[in-house]
Amino acid sequence: MHKAVPVNKDTWWVGVNDHETDLFESLWDLPQGVSYNAYVVTGEKTAAIDTVKGPWLDEYFHKLEEVLGGRPLDYLVVNHMEPDHAGLISQLRARHPGLKFVGNAKTMPLLKGYHGIDTDTVLVKDGTTLDLGGHVLQFATVPMVHWPESMVTFDTTTGVLFSNDSFGGYGAHEGGLFDDSKTRTRWEGEMLRYYATIVGRYSNVVQVALKKLASLPIKNIFPAHGTLFREDVGQVIGLYDRWSRYEADCGAVVVYGSMYGNTRRMAEAVCSGLSDSGVKDVHLYDAARSAPSHILRDIWRYRGFALLSCTYNTLLFPPMEALCSKLLNRMPKNRALGIAGSYSWSRGALDALREFARDIKLEVVGPEVEVFASPTAEDLEQCVELGKNLGRQVGGPCPLQS
Ligand code: FEO
Repeated sequence: MHKAVPVNKDTWWVGVNDHETDLFESLWDLPQGVSYNAYVVTGEKTAAIDTVKGPWLDEYFHKLEEVLGGRPLDYLVVNHMEPDHAGLISQLRARHPGLKFVGNAKTMPLLKGYHGIDTDTVLVKDGTTLDLGGHVLQFATVPMVHWPESMVTFDTTTGVLFSNDSFGGYGAHEGGLFDDSKTRTRWEGEMLRYYATIVGRYSNVVQVALKKLASLPIKNIFPAHGTLFREDVGQVIGLYDRWSRYEADCGAVVVYGSMYGNTRRMAEAVCSGLSDSGVKDVHLYDAARSAPSHILRDIWRYRGFALLSCTYNTLLFPPMEALCSKLLNRMPKNRALGIAGSYSWSRGALDALREFARDIKLEVVGPEVEVFASPTAEDLEQCVELGKNLGRQVGGPCPLQS
């Protein structure tokens, strides 16, 4: 999208698509890119809502100046200081010397730290309004969704919520910006992947934020990443409510770490058991070859998961260890967990998975299977049994699943 796009009355999208970054936060894969959505609202005064990541300077300014048409920019609303949205603050000030920076008390130290700015600031808090003349913006802090200074901006005139990371999703725009230009399947998976990797750790405060926003007459939600919502805003808020309460669909994820295929065979037997118990959504992942963000997304989506690892130098297989670390960083709740390990010259993997299970505080479904060398027929039957037992925990009824 090479031009600014009108998205509501006096409101333009001036964001960019990023198809060049391989890993978001140097961690999470971007097979379909990512967008940085920035906006401009033009009343008698003009306000930009967030900027974009630094390398997209030319494209951002081209669109911004196209909208301003020679007018000065009066305000920059800084909803979030992470550099994917705040990357061009210094450059914006250089172009618009009279610019004022709108943020809350937690924004200001970061504004100074990243950009050396501690003048021309407008300090706001929950409920503060900013009258642009024709549009009145109202601010609400949403601390830890995703950083302590995170806030959202509500245009009381149009009913647009500029939600920043909240309700955001991976995936660059392909064609239309809005939810009514694509199927739900097209945006929901990438929104959940974003939630599981970026926001999910803070699900308890997402619940606080949702309660805070419940009184606002929101007509559109314009996040800082991914699809813009105007067709069924209630549906999107409902998804966030569900994910942040750790509600999940029927189904299970089975992840294995295997060097020579023995632990993989155990994992396949667990999948068979899940299928035998009637579970239709079973997803098998190789921890060494699968992007962690996709595993985390599916663990957030389904009611249970099983981890199976070979032993590596008396410990967990490293890709499984890395996945466990990511899970402990996010602490998903209300999930059934199955664990199994294999070993040859030294035990270790199953003990490490037991420790993981204790730390993550999830209910462990038995049997906990441990296999020496190559799994016997009896060992594989134990794995099938584990799958069946897990299946009893993660099966229906599942009314929200189509
Ligand atoms: Fe999209 Fe927390 O930045």
